[in-house]
Amino acid sequence: VCGIVGYIGTRLAVPVLLEGLKKLEYRGYDSAGIAVIEDGELVLNRSVGKLHMLEGKINGDAHQGHVGIGHTRWATHGRPSDRNSHPHTDCTGKIAVVHNGIIENFLELKEWLEENGHVFQSETDTEVLPHLVEHFHQGDLLRAVEQMVSKVRGSYATVVLSEDHPGTLVAARKDNPLIVGLGEGEYFFASDIPAIINYTRKIMVLEDGEIAVLTAEGVKVYKNGSPVEKEIQLITWDTKAAEKGGYPHFMIKEINEQPRALRDILTGRIAPDFSGVDLQEVSLTAEQIKNIRKIAVVACGTAYHAGIVGKYVMEKMLRIPVEVDIASEFRYRNPLIDAHTLTVIISQSGETADTLAALKEAKARGSRVVAITNVVGSSIAREAHDVVYTWAGPEIAVASTKAYITQLLGIYLLTLFLGKELGRIPAGEMTDILHHLYQLPKQAQDILDHLNEQLNKMAEIFNQWEDTFFVGRGLDYAVALEGSLKLKEISYVHAEAYAAGELKHGTLALIVKDVPVLALCTQPDVFEKTVSNIKEIKAREAHVIGVAFEGNKEIGKSVDEVIYIPETLPLLAPVLTVIPLQMLAYYASVHRGCDVDQPRNLAKSVTVE
Ligand code: F6R
Repeated sequence: VCGIVGYIGTRLAVPVLLEGLKKLEYRGYDSAGIAVIEDGELVLNRSVGKLHMLEGKINGDAHQGHVGIGHTRWATHGRPSDRNSHPHTDCTGKIAVVHNGIIENFLELKEWLEENGHVFQSETDTEVLPHLVEHFHQGDLLRAVEQMVSKVRGSYATVVLSEDHPGTLVAARKDNPLIVGLGEGEYFFASDIPAIINYTRKIMVLEDGEIAVLTAEGVKVYKNGSPVEKEIQLITWDTKAAEKGGYPHFMIKEINEQPRALRDILTGRIAPDFSGVDLQEVSLTAEQIKNIRKIAVVACGTAYHAGIVGKYVMEKMLRIPVEVDIASEFRYRNPLIDAHTLTVIISQSGETADTLAALKEAKARGSRVVAITNVVGSSIAREAHDVVYTWAGPEIAVASTKAYITQLLGIYLLTLFLGKELGRIPAGEMTDILHHLYQLPKQAQDILDHLNEQLNKMAEIFNQWEDTFFVGRGLDYAVALEGSLKLKEISYVHAEAYAAGELKHGTLALIVKDVPVLALCTQPDVFEKTVSNIKEIKAREAHVIGVAFEGNKEIGKSVDEVIYIPETLPLLAPVLTVIPLQMLAYYASVHRGCDVDQPRNLAKSVTVE
C-alpha cells in the first residue's frame, strides 16, 4: 500500500504532486507529505490525516521548485502521525525518501546506523533508507541508492531526492509497483497510472531489481549496474473512467458500472454459435489440462470469496478437487502443490503481497498458474503463466464490487474452457450456460433499475442494529460471505455469514428478536433445507429478509421480506445475488454517515503482508 509520486520538469512541482497524490489516496490515506527542492534547498511538508490536511498546511506557501516527491501513507510500522509521515530524511535534512513496502531488516540496519552516529526521528522502517543513502553517498546518487538497495531485505518502491543533486530523482523497486511517466520535457514516477494520466500517456513499468534515474533530459534504467532497454507503453484509458461521473461515491458508480463490466468481460469470449468460450490468452495445452489432478484457488478478501464460488462451480462442472485458500495461509502452510496442480490466483489489483507470494510459491512447486486479475501489467499478471483479464476498469472505492462480479465471470469462463477441453460439459449444457451468461448484463441492469429504492429503504434497519447475519447453502453461502464483508467494511455493522445448516451449531445463540438476517435462497437442490433453517431462525423471532429468484412464491411464506432478483441458472446466481447485497451495504453506509469510499483502517491495494 501507500502511494508515491515524483516529478521533474518545467511545471511547479507542488500542484503536480498534490494532484497525483489525490489520485492515489485509495492506496492509503492516514497521512501524506511532499518534499521539493526550492532555491537549492530541500523543503519538507508532512501531515497526519487525509490529503486536505497537508494541503491546508502548505496553503499559501509559494513553492517555486520544479522537482519533488510525494507520498500518501497507509501505516505499517509506526502509528499515523506527522513524524511518521513520509518523506523521511537523513541527519542533514538534505536527502528525502518516499517508500511503499516493508523493510524487514530495518531494526538490524537501524542499530548499525545508530552505531555509526545516525539519529532517528520516527518509528518507521522507511527512515533507514535516507540514512543508508547518506551513509553511502560519495557524490554519486545512483551509486548510493544501489548500495542502499543491496543492504535492505523486504519490499519497496522508493524514490530518493537529494539537495546535492537538485536535477535528479532516483527510484528503485522490488515487489511493489512503480511506473515512469514520460512527458514532453517532464518526467514522473508514480505507484499507479491515474496519478499521471493528465500529463502523459507514455509509461514504462519498472521491474523488480531495476533502478531508474530521472532528469529533465530523460530516464535511464539500470539493473545490476548495467543499463536496461525499456519498452514504452501507451495508456489508452479514458480519464473519465477514473472519476466519479456524477455519482456521490465511487462505490455506487462502480456498482452501476457492473452491467457494462459484465458485457466487457464477455466480449469476444463467447463463440458466436454459443458452442464454447474463446480464451486465447490461456495457453494451457490439451495435454496439460488432461494432467490436472487438483485445482488450488488462492486469493484474499473479496477475491477469496470469488474463489469460494469457484470451488463450487469447478468441482461441479470439472469433477476435479478444488481447494480454496486465503493467500496468507497458503504461503506458509507448505501446500501440497505439484506439476499436476493448476493454481488459479485471483486479485483485482494484481499487487496484493500475500497473493503474489502465494503465486510464486505455487510456481516454485511446479504448478502452472492462471491469474484472474483486473490490472494489466500488474505484478501478478506478469508472474503468472496465463492471465484472464477481468476488464472491469479502474476500481477506486476500497470496497470491491465490479471487480468481484467480473472475477466470477473469469471463473465461469475458465471453467467452461477447461470443461470443454476435458469433454466434461455436454454440448447442450454448454450452450445453455453460455446463453444465460449472455443475459447477465441485462439482468444486472434490471436489478439496478428496479431495486434501488427498496434497498435504500431496507438499509435503514441498520440504523438500529449493530449485528446482522447472512445465511445460505452452497453457492448462496459463498455469496453470503461476500455480502457480510461488504456490510462490515463500509458500514461497520458486525455481520456474520454462515452456511445455513451450521447456524444451530453455536451461532443460533446470537439470534434474538428482530435481529436482521439475510437468507439467500437461490439454489433449488437445497431450497427446502434452507427453508427449514429459516424456520429455526424465525422461531427465535429474527427479522428475516429472503433473496430469491422472481417467481419463487414459497419463500414469501417463511420470511418477513423478499428481495427478488431475475431468474438465471442456479450456477450463475452469485453474479446477480451479490448486487442487492452490495447496494444494501452501500445504503447502510450512507445512512450511518460513514466514509463509503475510504472506510477506516483500510486501503485499496494491500502490498504488505
Ligand atoms: C474488500 C476488498 C478486499 C480485496 C482484497 C484483495 O471489498 O476489496 O478484501 O478483495 O484486499 O485485493 P486484490 O483483489 O486486489 O488482491
